Amino acid sequence: MTRILHVSCSPRGQAAESYSLAQKIIGFLLEREPAAILINRFVGGGVLSHIDGSYATALGAAEPSAAEMAGEGSFGPSEELIAELENADFVVIGTPMHNFTVPSALKAWIDHIARVRRTFKFNTAGKAATLRDRPVFVAVSSGASFSGKRAHQPDFLTPYLKAVLGMIGLHELTFFSVEGTTQGPLALAEARARADQALQEYFSSPGA
Ligand SMILES: Cc1cc2nc3c(=O)[nH]c(=O)nc-3n(C[C@H](O)[C@H](O)[C@H](O)COP(=O)(O)O)c2cc1C
Repeated sequence: MTRILHVSCSPRGQAAESYSLAQKIIGFLLEREPAAILINRFVGGGVLSHIDGSYATALGAAEPSAAEMAGEGSFGPSEELIAELENADFVVIGTPMHNFTVPSALKAWIDHIARVRRTFKFNTAGKAATLRDRPVFVAVSSGASFSGKRAHQPDFLTPYLKAVLGMIGLHELTFFSVEGTTQGPLALAEARARADQALQEYFSSPGA
């Protein structure tokens, strides 16, 4: 059974622009896989706690801790979130840009799923990912533009997600964005239309 994991990261929940864009991506995936199971994981707005001290201590240690082996504290939600990711055939991350990068809610999710001895390991060559690759779609919403000719701010979100998800084995990333949501109704309508066109082109291409 095909599984789609939707990680929703905006504090605005279902009212979020990134949520709407993620829903469109999910719509295209469901057209191709009508029987797919959709798992919605809302992490926005502080729903997901930050990692605790014993988790942070254990991740910095060479050997697994007792809390790690017992799945206590943050290791509980970490294991649950990693299992969701492992079981997913497609991942859709809906996220706003906050201060040029991912919102802290998405960072909290990443801190739970990018875990030494679990989703990556250290070896003589450095870090080795343990997850199998799968398509990851990232739906980004931003108040101003960060890509193309209109860009006038740095983008630490895209390279950061590529680096950190690549570290655990997820390399097949595709980004869609609605950029300029705070630039007035006309700019927003145009940004949505550009995103819709990019989605149509992507999902109608033979390789998609
Ligand atoms: C804390 C915070 C920081 C933000 N930082 C940026 C930023 O660096 N660049 C930007 O273009 N927009 C920024 N915005 C605007 C949001 O990205 C924009 O409103 C976006 O459309 C929200 O998406 P959502 O509806 O999915 O939450 C910021 C908004 C908030 C609340």
